[in-house]
Amino acid sequence: MTVSRTFSIIKPDATRRNLTGAIVKMFEDGGLRIVASKRIQMTRAQAEGFYGVHKERPFFGELVDFMISEPVVVQVLEGENAVTRNRDIMGATNPEDADEGTVRKSHALSIGENSVHGSDSAENAAIEIAFFFKEDELVG
Ligand code: CMP
Repeated sequence: MTVSRTFSIIKPDATRRNLTGAIVKMFEDGGLRIVASKRIQMTRAQAEGFYGVHKERPFFGELVDFMISEPVVVQVLEGENAVTRNRDIMGATNPEDADEGTVRKSHALSIGENSVHGSDSAENAAIEIAFFFKEDELVG
């Protein structure tokens, strides 16, 4: 058994609709443990830095504006194969392609307002966790 960690953001479309608890329950029911969690108002600099890999994409401005439009909940999730497990729980980026029972199928509004972000690899999980959390804030 390989216990690992991944990084998650509950996005503004979800916090605005009071879905934080419903989404956390889907993580927990799916076998992930919340080992760090904070509700923050992301700054423009944070959003631009976090999504820097997408800065040449046509939707970058829209993505940054959206991520700072309302509070978000940043979390570290722990469990067996946490990155892939969380991606399975979230479903496809575009809710139209997401499987039944996933967070995005159940709650996402569009490809942009898609309720959750999750790391796409263990390497990026480590980078993304360090972007928002200090080591002593992770309490498993
Ligand atoms: P996320 O996992 O947070 O990583 C990058 C985000 O860009 C992605 O989820 C989507 O919400 C967003 N995104 C991807 N494609 C588009 C698009 N065509 N238009 C708007 N946002 C997009």
